[in-house]
Amino acid sequence: MTLEHKVAVITGGGQGLGRAVTLALVRKGAKVVVADMNLGTAESVAAEVAHAGGEALPVQVDVADEGSVDALRDRALGRWDHVDILINNAGMYPHSLVVDMSEEDWDRVLDVNVGGQFLCARAFVPVMKRQGSGRIICTASAIAYKGAAGHSHYAASKAAVLGFVRGLARELAPHGITVNSIAPGTANTAMPRQHRSEESMRERGTKVPLGRIAEPEDIANAVVFLAGDPASYVTGQSLLVTGGDLMV
Ligand SMILES: NC(=O)c1ccc[n+]([C@@H]2O[C@H](COP(=O)([O-])OP(=O)(O)OC[C@H]3O[C@@H](n4cnc5c(N)ncnc54)[C@H](O)[C@@H]3O)[C@@H](O)[C@H]2O)c1
Repeated sequence: MTLEHKVAVITGGGQGLGRAVTLALVRKGAKVVVADMNLGTAESVAAEVAHAGGEALPVQVDVADEGSVDALRDRALGRWDHVDILINNAGMYPHSLVVDMSEEDWDRVLDVNVGGQFLCARAFVPVMKRQGSGRIICTASAIAYKGAAGHSHYAASKAAVLGFVRGLARELAPHGITVNSIAPGTANTAMPRQHRSEESMRERGTKVPLGRIAEPEDIANAVVFLAGDPASYVTGQSLLVTGGDLMV
C-alpha cells in the first residue's frame, strides 16, 4: 500500500496523535500539510518530515475560524495543486461539570471539535470533487459512545462528529470521496494528561482488555488504513481503536 503522489492535510498535526499520523502518512509516501494553531510545533514536525526525506508544509490555522481554514486550503493548493486526504484531528478536551459550564465553554468546544471539522471539510470538498476522489478522516472518540463526567461538551462534540460523518459520507459517495472517523480510547498524549496523573494513566491501561492505553502509532495505523486503497469500499464508518475497552 502506498500513498505516493498523495497530498494530506493534517489538522492538529503539531503534536500527539496528529504528529504520529503525519509521520505515518509520510512513511507511506504522502506529502503533508502540517496545520496547527501552534506554528512552532507544526514547524518542528515539518522539520522531522524533511529529516526523514519527506516533504511538508507547516501552516498556522485555527480550525474554528472560517477565514483561517480557507487560507489553509489556499496555502496547500499553492504548494501542491491537489489535496487527496484530509485528517480532521485538531481538538480540545477541557474539564467542566455541566452545572459550572459557561455558554462560552460549551460553544468553544463545539466550535473547535465539530465546527472545525465541518469548516475544513467544506473548504476541501470542492477540491476533492474536482479531482473525483478523496479521503476525509475525522476524529471522534470512545467518549462519544460512553460519555465522561466533566466532559459532556466534549462527548457532545464527538457524538456530533459521528453524525456529521454519516451525512457527509452519503453526500460525497457519488463523487468517489469516502468519509470515516476513528474513535480512539485513551492514548498516550498530552491531552488526557491534562486531567490524569502518571499513575492514573498507568491504571487506565490495566482496565483495557489488551492491557495498555494506545500509543499514538496505534491510532496512526488505523488512519493509514482508512486513507489507503484497502479501505476504498469503507465509508460512513467509525473505527473504534480502544484495545477492546469499548466494543459496540
Ligand atoms: N489522546 C487521547 O486520549 C484521545 C482520545 C480520543 C480522541 N482523541 C482526539 O484525538 C485528537 C488529537 O488528540 P491528541 O491527544 O493528539 O491531543 P493534543 O492536545 O496532544 O493535540 C491537539 C493538537 O490540536 C491543536 N489544536 C487545538 N485546537 C486547535 C485549533 N482550534 N486549530 C488548530 N489546531 C488546534 C493543538 O495545538 C495540538 O497540536 C483530538 O481530536 C482528540 O479529541 C484523543
